[in-house]
Amino acid sequence: MDLRNRPRRLRGDGVRGLVSETSLAPSDLIAPVFVDATTDERVPIESMPGHERVPVDEAVARVEEVRETGVEAVMLFGIPTEKDAEGSRAWAGDGIVQEATRRVTAETDAYVVTDVCMCEYTEHGHCGLLAEGAREGEGLTVDNDATLPALERIAVSHARAGADMVAPSGMMDGMVAAIREALDEDGHDEVPIMSYAAKYESAFYGPFRDAADGAPSFGDRRHYQMDPANRREAMREVSLDVEQGADVLMVKPALPYLDVVADVRREFDHPVAAYNVSGEYAMLHAAAEKGWLDLEAVAHESLLSIKRAGADLILTYFAEDVARSLS
Ligand code: PBG
Repeated sequence: MDLRNRPRRLRGDGVRGLVSETSLAPSDLIAPVFVDATTDERVPIESMPGHERVPVDEAVARVEEVRETGVEAVMLFGIPTEKDAEGSRAWAGDGIVQEATRRVTAETDAYVVTDVCMCEYTEHGHCGLLAEGAREGEGLTVDNDATLPALERIAVSHARAGADMVAPSGMMDGMVAAIREALDEDGHDEVPIMSYAAKYESAFYGPFRDAADGAPSFGDRRHYQMDPANRREAMREVSLDVEQGADVLMVKPALPYLDVVADVRREFDHPVAAYNVSGEYAMLHAAAEKGWLDLEAVAHESLLSIKRAGADLILTYFAEDVARSLS
């Protein structure tokens, strides 16, 4: 047999590392952290094994646990004591994320990213202010333009508290431009925006909505999050965010949308982030619990695949575990 091309030659132990195309490091990862104003104890999140909601007094300790694994960046999500129609606790100077951000940035060297959205803060659980007739099911649920000033206030309140980066996740048209302008006017032109640029209306967010108590009380998010059927539309969403000044472009979820991650990587020079969401985490845990999958191996393979598709950084609930296994 005259086989000149034998790819197997490069798979031996000594050489495979040399020809490896993709690598994974703790410095690629951002760990989500949930800070909960309604509790003074840590509360395990049932559908996300290993994760907890922590009271603000534990925020620094929680972030230090993350940093001990080698992961330097966290994404803070807040659960407020009170919700109202306007989501006013989302921009309160003494709100849960603002308070946690102040403490974590003062007392640790972590890089703090904050989620800029309203769904945990509105009594109806939508990511913005309701449009007229929304509850009756007439027309669109969220009033896009009326929501923008609220997002500006939230982002500015996070930056004032010391946030290193803000991440608007509400999928309002024009949100990046509005937030950029508001941040600059308030003297935060150094604070980058990581936009959830292509965020899909996904059933994989289920466990997160339990964790952050942010499920919509009626209707769904189809009017503002993207249709899972659409790939070209993601390019349009992302280019609008680029025009508006986004610094990092995120695709969310990650594994079911690797085609979109690859498209964004190819079409844009900005850093690309992917959010390996709660459902992606929960399903691997559930299978591992049954003994059907090797959790450490599938977690590593998942994150490696997300990088291979083109992501530079990954938001993932596996951050600590994978970082530990890399060291
Ligand atoms: C808030 C937000 C959500 C997630 C991150 N930010 C929920 C949603 O859009 O319903 C989901 C994250 C996850 O599932 O891990 N807008």
